Amino acid sequence: MKIFITRRIPDAGIKLLKAAGYSVDIYKEDRVIPRKELLKRVTGCDAILSLLTDKIDDGVLKAAGPKLKVIANYAVGFDNIDLSAAKKRGVIVTNTPAPEVSETVAEHAIALIFALAHRIVEADHITRNNKYHGWDPNLLLGTDVIGKTVGVIGTGRIGANLIRRLVDGFDIRILYSDVQPNKELEKKYHATYVPLEKLLAQSDFVSLHVPLVPATHHLINAKRLQLMKKTAYLINTARGPVIDSHALVQALKAKRIAGAGLDVFEGEPQFALKKQDSAYLQQAWNVILTPHTASATIEARQAMSKLAADNIIAVLSEKPALTPAR
Ligand code: GLV
Ligand code: GLV
Repeated sequence: MKIFITRRIPDAGIKLLKAAGYSVDIYKEDRVIPRKELLKRVTGCDAILSLLTDKIDDGVLKAAGPKLKVIANYAVGFDNIDLSAAKKRGVIVTNTPAPEVSETVAEHAIALIFALAHRIVEADHITRNNKYHGWDPNLLLGTDVIGKTVGVIGTGRIGANLIRRLVDGFDIRILYSDVQPNKELEKKYHATYVPLEKLLAQSDFVSLHVPLVPATHHLINAKRLQLMKKTAYLINTARGPVIDSHALVQALKAKRIAGAGLDVFEGEPQFALKKQDSAYLQQAWNVILTPHTASATIEARQAMSKLAADNIIAVLSEKPALTPAR
């Protein structure tokens, strides 16, 4: 059996695939594989281990040919894959929602919340650049997180993990919105199910944990940003296009919200679709930018590697996929 991996990933899964006796081909350059190379290398494969930066459409499926049985995406999200094209060709798509990853991304959302509230990045910059001239009662005043209201949009594994940590650790009041209420979250964490509009109007921090699908594209638009408190922060560790980046920059410029913590961007690796908006975000001290690293811990990335491999091994042994994408 032939497996193609589009870029080197942490080795746990690669070892499993080799131990299963498969022939494993890995694109050697440490960059996103060019389209032409991708089409060439997938030819005759039984499985592809893809990354979120690879666009997997019918062209790739066709180039792979009839032996292809599974595409294991090394990510929780799978908006880079044309699921219906895969389905038509009988190819199974899997993702990597390993428990470790949900913990890691929830941790990253928490890190952004606290870094914004305590102005950590700005404070580090000021201190490092010899701008600290002695204690000052008004220097870099931030806001507490304890006792505040956090609005969680999307309560899958990551959103639910975030809620548990905030409630257990910081006495946070949780509002959440999702396609349907979650009785367990309500019982265990006193989370309150509210319409999105109400969540936006009442939360001190709003954190996004939805997949990118047509219904969530620009879910946070100009009209909805307008509903947020002037003192509220917006956190995005989901997918960039869930926020209308131009509307976000307009809201930040007009001080309609207090700031944002962004791990993903519309038009990635740019910070926004428009150049001027990217430039604005780059210099705004009430914005913290991380380069799509919310799942970037050794623990999470090894778990993703292992789960991607286990999915491939399951499907190629004619067993059900462990975590099919749907
Ligand atoms: C990262 O963005 C992921 O979907 O795993
Ligand atoms: C990005 O966060 C990834 O899942 O590789």
